[in-house]
Amino acid sequence: MLAPQKQYVQWHENDIVQEARWLSESNHAPPTRIVIVDDKTTADEAYRLASQGTSLLWRGDFHNARQLLQAINRRIDRTNERSALRKAKKTAKSPESKAIPNLFHQQRQVTAQRARILSRLLLELDADYDSNLRRAPDMSAACIAAFGPLNEKGDEACVLSFRDVQGALGAAGWREKGVKIDHLDLSIYPHYGVFAPTRHEYVQLLLDAPLPVMPDVAYDIGTGTGLLAIILAKRDAKQVIATDLSPRALTCASDNIERLELTNIQLQEANLYPTDAPPANLIVCNPPWLPAKPSSPLEYAVYDPNSTMLRELLRDAKQHLAEQGEVWLILSDLVEHLKLRTREELLGWFADSGLTVKYRLDTQPKHNRSQDESDPLFAARSSEVTSLWCLQPA
Ligand SMILES: C[S@@+](CC[C@H](N)C(=O)[O-])C[C@H]1O[C@@H](n2cnc3c(N)ncnc32)[C@H](O)[C@@H]1O
Repeated sequence: MLAPQKQYVQWHENDIVQEARWLSESNHAPPTRIVIVDDKTTADEAYRLASQGTSLLWRGDFHNARQLLQAINRRIDRTNERSALRKAKKTAKSPESKAIPNLFHQQRQVTAQRARILSRLLLELDADYDSNLRRAPDMSAACIAAFGPLNEKGDEACVLSFRDVQGALGAAGWREKGVKIDHLDLSIYPHYGVFAPTRHEYVQLLLDAPLPVMPDVAYDIGTGTGLLAIILAKRDAKQVIATDLSPRALTCASDNIERLELTNIQLQEANLYPTDAPPANLIVCNPPWLPAKPSSPLEYAVYDPNSTMLRELLRDAKQHLAEQGEVWLILSDLVEHLKLRTREELLGWFADSGLTVKYRLDTQPKHNRSQDESDPLFAARSSEVTSLWCLQPA
């Protein structure tokens, strides 16, 4: 694969034109309008500039940048509240704009707009991802782990959004302390950009489901941190083959498997099914669960446009299953509450793939968002059920 083309940003500072490499995890284009801001810049001014499309290169104290970002965020909240009030008045006249799934799409737009504004606060880091800003933490290891080394010759500075740096620092924290998986009495160590199993009620479903008669070969499709493959290996599947499209996920899964000294899991970079693999007695998959377009590479674990992955997984399952093999599909029904898909459609895809439902195990998520009554999607989120669908050839 060709390395992505390097991109650069330019700005005026001290009467000279400066240039640095541009990095953006969300694939945002290099900003064309950049102004210098520091501790003297007010939050109102920063918010006004950022919401009008100007990027702000921070030259003040590192911790003050974090506070500025929070202050901008509060201003976005206030603007959104005012616009929600205006919409509510209009909605009285046109109730369809309040209807789900419009609400879901509106919420995504609001979130994307917030992310765009917040990502306009920028940092310049040197070739080791270090910064000489006052009170700047050591960011080098976290940024190298998240974004890779900047350049081999080590002579190229970069500009990136403060939020991306915060993401890298946060991920380094998770990677160090891990996510405790209560049901299994072990911890999983997520890497930057890999789906972190912080909501893992579904683990109990995988522990409760009776294994098919001969769990000799099991696949974990879309393995992420490797969590489901690890559960299968711990439940005595003889050979587990785990795939993912994301190289970051595969590195992360490999790290977790090594930490647990499991020797019966093989990893493969693949679109869905492994190649050159024996037929599976068990295929497990926890696919991205929302049928919408990801707005950044980090969202590929959550959004599956037109449910393409899910439908292709089901369509080809039979040809990868051994005799009496089973598919364990982990699926939230949030999409149904959001009216983005019906239960009949899902059952139709099972039937079209020549699969029938052997049994279903359910669990109700207990995460904070499902309890937050101020969330416009509360009604849908609070009714969400996550299921393990056990499917077998009809
Ligand atoms: C919801 S995450 C689940 C991760 C993990 N199995 C778990 O339960 O924690 C979905 C995973 O599927 C992967 N994925 C998405 N599309 C894929 C495809 N076509 N082939 C293989 N993996 C895919 C994503 O990279 C992500 O790691």
